[in-house]
Amino acid sequence: MDDRNPVVELALRRGFVMPSSEIYGGLAGFYDYGPVGTLMKNKLISLWRHHCIRKEGYVEIDGANILREEVLKASGHVKSFTDPLTRCSKCKNSFRADHLVEEATGQRVEGLDANQLTKKLEKVKCPNCGGKLSKVELFHTMFDVRAGTSEGTRAYLRPETAQSIFINFPRLFSVTREKLPLGVGQVGRAFRNEISPRNFLIRMREFTQMEIEIFLSPDQLDSHPNWNEIKDVKLRLVKQDGKEVETTPEEMVRQKIAPNQYLAYWVGKAWLFYSALGIPRKNMRMKHLPKDETPFYSKSNFDLEVKTSFGWKEALGTAYRTDHDLSEHAKLSGKKMEAMFENGKIIPHVIEPSWGVDRPFYMILEAAYRPKTKEKDWEWLQLPPVIAPYISAVFPLMRKDGQPEKALEVTKNLLEKGFDVFYDKTGSIGKRYARADEIGTPFCITIDYDTAKDNTVTLRHRDTGKQDRVKIEELPKLLGEALNFELNA
Ligand code: GAP
Repeated sequence: MDDRNPVVELALRRGFVMPSSEIYGGLAGFYDYGPVGTLMKNKLISLWRHHCIRKEGYVEIDGANILREEVLKASGHVKSFTDPLTRCSKCKNSFRADHLVEEATGQRVEGLDANQLTKKLEKVKCPNCGGKLSKVELFHTMFDVRAGTSEGTRAYLRPETAQSIFINFPRLFSVTREKLPLGVGQVGRAFRNEISPRNFLIRMREFTQMEIEIFLSPDQLDSHPNWNEIKDVKLRLVKQDGKEVETTPEEMVRQKIAPNQYLAYWVGKAWLFYSALGIPRKNMRMKHLPKDETPFYSKSNFDLEVKTSFGWKEALGTAYRTDHDLSEHAKLSGKKMEAMFENGKIIPHVIEPSWGVDRPFYMILEAAYRPKTKEKDWEWLQLPPVIAPYISAVFPLMRKDGQPEKALEVTKNLLEKGFDVFYDKTGSIGKRYARADEIGTPFCITIDYDTAKDNTVTLRHRDTGKQDRVKIEELPKLLGEALNFELNA
């Protein structure tokens, strides 16, 4: 873990995230979210829920984390969910063979088989001790478990939340009154036994996904009801041949870069969502995956990549999964995975916006990080108010003369109105501002001697340090306005 990275250091110091099992030496690839991290993570999920589920007219489920082996046989994971592994003969460390070759040679090696990677590794030494690396083998990255006593039933911790939605399709179609398109989302944990988990929240072994499977007839793929809201979003696309172009979802469909409107819609929406959450445009690119990088279940894939201090990393993907999953589950289970559409039965096709939570969480923190300057003698986070753990802090200027009681009353009233605020009476005002800024709190409210006279407080703005005198009764309106979050193209 790189705790010399100032964002990682701040995240650990202020309890956004904590290494799991830390008192026993930690467990690579596992993290626990701390108090402010949990608040922020839940806000990210709430925004997704509002903009990507409710506003689209979709529904959500909450599936089990452990799935029977058959589910993952049908989906193709049992056969194909592997990563190339090499071990050092000297220090015995294991590495992702493809990552080592890419780092040592700068060449893209996606799609090469184990023999081809072994050849490429001949000139590469162990990055840890310089030792000789072994032949490449394929390592299965699902965690297997047994459910029940004795032999038990073979099962796996799910490697993606998506499968819980596919296997429930017949019931979901029935309980939602048999209409297509049917969008079903889910926020939940996914588990992958990554060979070398690293880069903090970027490559974990247990992580959270918020995925949507949109089931529809192939006839509906080119008519998204909210197309006009997204079709003109300007985005930077890396084409399959590696060339970068400025484009829009509408252009992508017109030029047949995107196979259909639904896929292009979600490419545009993802771009809009993360630019609204503060990731600078220059640090985002939408990558159209070349054929050899496209997952086995997908006909077309677009990944949103973000430039971080660990390099360009995938934040989320949008896939056209066709009828792959439903057809395979129908074959192996012998159950019908069909829907009535117009006058006949069809196996619906699927568009999948598959968004991670932890990677974008980290990317938003990095985009918001501001180092110390002459004007501000402390590090701080310029988080968009809508995602900041707290919208405001409330301070008594002095710990006497009724000020703590008044500050607690203001805190209670704002909490009752649904605002996330916290009370802090410890240390100088400067120290309290610094502590609030460090976790990205957009406002600080201070109760002072004038409050008792005219019912006003000082409202300090995090970004400018500007202070306004405002009436206590105006606070809910001011804080409410700051929390406004729109997705406008
Ligand atoms: N259902 C499709 C699917 O799971 P994916 O590209 O493998 O696609 C989707 O994963 C998202 O899940 C990624 O874009 C990323 O945000 C997150 N993710 C995947 N593996 C991860 C890992 N090891 N650690 C943290 N997040 C991960």
